[in-house]
Amino acid sequence: MIQQLGVGVAITGSGSAIPTVSLDNHQLCELVETNDEWITSRTGIRKRRIAATESVSDLATVAAQNAIAMAGISPTDLDLIILATSTADDLFGSASSIQFRLGATKAVAFDLTAACSGFVFALATASQFIRTGVYQNVLVIGADILSRWVDWSDRKTCVLFGDGAGAVVMQASTSDRLLGFELKSDGTQHQSLNLAYKPQPKELVADVTVQEGSYQPITMNGKEIYRFAVQKVPEVLEKALFRANMSVDQIDWLILHQANQRILDAVAQRLNIPADKVISNLANYGNTSAASIPLALDEAVREGKIKQGDVIATSGFGAGLTWGAAIFQWGR
Ligand code: ACO
Repeated sequence: MIQQLGVGVAITGSGSAIPTVSLDNHQLCELVETNDEWITSRTGIRKRRIAATESVSDLATVAAQNAIAMAGISPTDLDLIILATSTADDLFGSASSIQFRLGATKAVAFDLTAACSGFVFALATASQFIRTGVYQNVLVIGADILSRWVDWSDRKTCVLFGDGAGAVVMQASTSDRLLGFELKSDGTQHQSLNLAYKPQPKELVADVTVQEGSYQPITMNGKEIYRFAVQKVPEVLEKALFRANMSVDQIDWLILHQANQRILDAVAQRLNIPADKVISNLANYGNTSAASIPLALDEAVREGKIKQGDVIATSGFGAGLTWGAAIFQWGR
């Protein structure tokens, strides 16, 4: 266990929030040529939540309030809020509006974008501020509404995604619970998964053209992403375990980004992690991007599955391409 500058990091509270509207595989058959059997057997997803009325800030605020309550602190104790999202309500950032809604008057707040790796990237980022002694209480939120950006006529992608939010409170502690992490990026494959801006030239005055345009729905090379995940996620988990000076058999729970049950199974199999240690809730929510890990974590904590001191190995992966892993012990 490495302690830099004598300040440890503890993850002391979790929370989550999901939209009220649910959309199951059978309902998707009204939209595209698909069937429940295909979606369930290829992905493990049975239904997903759709933010029909909620915003990213709405979901993130509720998830944050639940995490703050579990940690037993007050919003005014927060020094920093990091919102991991790719679907902010406002391109200038949504973290500040959440800071306002929480009444976290002391906290500085900013957005961080790393697609489905966003939560793990934010966790590692937050830990740097704690380890250096700059901040004591940090809120990390993962929240996404990908349903805004899905092409609902593309059966290859529209069956995969859902909306939600999850959050954790991280605190400075004498005992260090964040045992190791590793983050990775590889832009050579960035075309495999995009939510890209399509510029539309508009001449303002002679010789001056601006690019008016809009973001285009998600495009994905599913096979490439699948191959990448199954190869890179075990590697990055092993690297994070190495940094923690731990072995696979010391892991109590594996919480992967909830993209596809087949990816969860393949990663667990490669690492020799038994299926009963793998946390999975994607049947109910699909791929909720930056929200998926804290949402799964929070459910498992509230169900009493994850207990104080349990060792959790987590890994996010997705667009960028980005991927990362963290090993931590739950609780104070
Ligand atoms: N219903 C019925 N048939 C379908 C559907 C559907 N919803 N979607 C595709 N098919 C068909 C295809 O057209 C194809 O038919 P064809 O052989 O006649 O052309 C056939 O099923 C097989 O399609 P594949 O794309 O080869 O299916 P595959 O087994 O690769 O599964 C999937 C696709 C589920 C998308 C898989 O590739 C996958 O999970 N990839 C990883 C995605 C992922 O994890 N993304 C995470 C990051 S997300 C982020 O960062 C925002």
